[in-house]
Amino acid sequence: MSEFRVAPARLDGAGYSILEDASLAGRNTLRVDARAALLVDLRASAALAEVLAFPLLANAPLLVLGEGSNLLLTRDVPGVVLSLSTRGIAVVDERDGYARVRAEAGENWNDLVHWTLGRGLAGLENLALIPGTVGAAPIQNIGAYGVELAEFVDTVEAWDREAKTLRRFDAAACAFGYRDSLFKREPGRHIVTALTLRLPRTPALRLDYAGVREELAAMRADAPTPALVAEAISRLRRRKLPDPAVIGNAGSFFKNPVVDAAQAAALGAAHPQLPSWPQGDGRRKLSAAWLIEQAGYKGRRDGDAGIAAQHALVLVNHGKASGAELWAFAQRVQAAVQERFGVALEAEPRIV
Ligand code: EPU
Repeated sequence: MSEFRVAPARLDGAGYSILEDASLAGRNTLRVDARAALLVDLRASAALAEVLAFPLLANAPLLVLGEGSNLLLTRDVPGVVLSLSTRGIAVVDERDGYARVRAEAGENWNDLVHWTLGRGLAGLENLALIPGTVGAAPIQNIGAYGVELAEFVDTVEAWDREAKTLRRFDAAACAFGYRDSLFKREPGRHIVTALTLRLPRTPALRLDYAGVREELAAMRADAPTPALVAEAISRLRRRKLPDPAVIGNAGSFFKNPVVDAAQAAALGAAHPQLPSWPQGDGRRKLSAAWLIEQAGYKGRRDGDAGIAAQHALVLVNHGKASGAELWAFAQRVQAAVQERFGVALEAEPRIV
């Protein structure tokens, strides 16, 4: 993009700024030192239409960034990176025991979880401490400890770059799946600007996922509340998953693969220890972490690229690994699992 030379090195507008040839090193949790030809920092969603109307940006490939916690940059970005840091959380309305809470895309997800819990609203407790922004949450339908975001979504607001208009999607229109949504399937088309959740006043705690009740017992929480469950989940996550502030990572790097009944039965017979969960349609979801660990990759590294010692699903950057090195290592893991078990592992984060 620099061949145009019409973009200033830095331009500041109301609610946004634009920077040329910007480093993304501090903006992705895998800590890949890649650069963007143009970096747009958006602080007010009202400025989005104005910014996207700039001829330089109008039809350019666009990468939308929140906290960069679910992203692997395998090389420099030749186009535009749009970083959203818009702020604001509010209760929109409340009736029949449910409140609707609207949050701007740039808010931190865990902050929103605690904002709602602090106001007596339940539902998000199992999703505590998931890294990333509110805007990123519906794109991959974040989930943990037996709960997925999808069940609480009222509306997603997103700018449609094709129609050049702001659109509102109800939960059905988002077409959520396991770590998947309409927004993920049409990359680059929608820019999520806000999320409205519908949350109950009366908790319906979900404690069945392995380890949750044990953690509450260890905390001596005999009468668990949503806030105590969030605390238990946070403790579990801190213990099991490497902290991106300490070592570069993007959470689970691989999705748990879903296989048909015949393959699940064959694998289960050959490997009785393999954890798996029924999908309701005969298919089973397998533990990718177990497959990777058995393939010998847990804790393994090549240079600065590796798999975490704590959890086999997590790709880590021990220091100065490039995006290309991290991706090459991840592909070796995929090949090893394919060869050993005949199962294809899909990457979960966005690979750029
Ligand atoms: N396991 C291993 N080796 C390991 C880690 C786990 O064999 O190194 C086995 C465990 O014994 C367990 C099974 O794998 O039986 C499942 O492990 P865990 O409970 O840690 O869950 P997961 O399926 O590996 C998923 C999500 C996580 C989420 C946890 C807890 C995906 C891709 N990952 O991991 O989400 O926190 O469940 O709900 O679905 C993320 O998406 O970034 C993420 C961290």
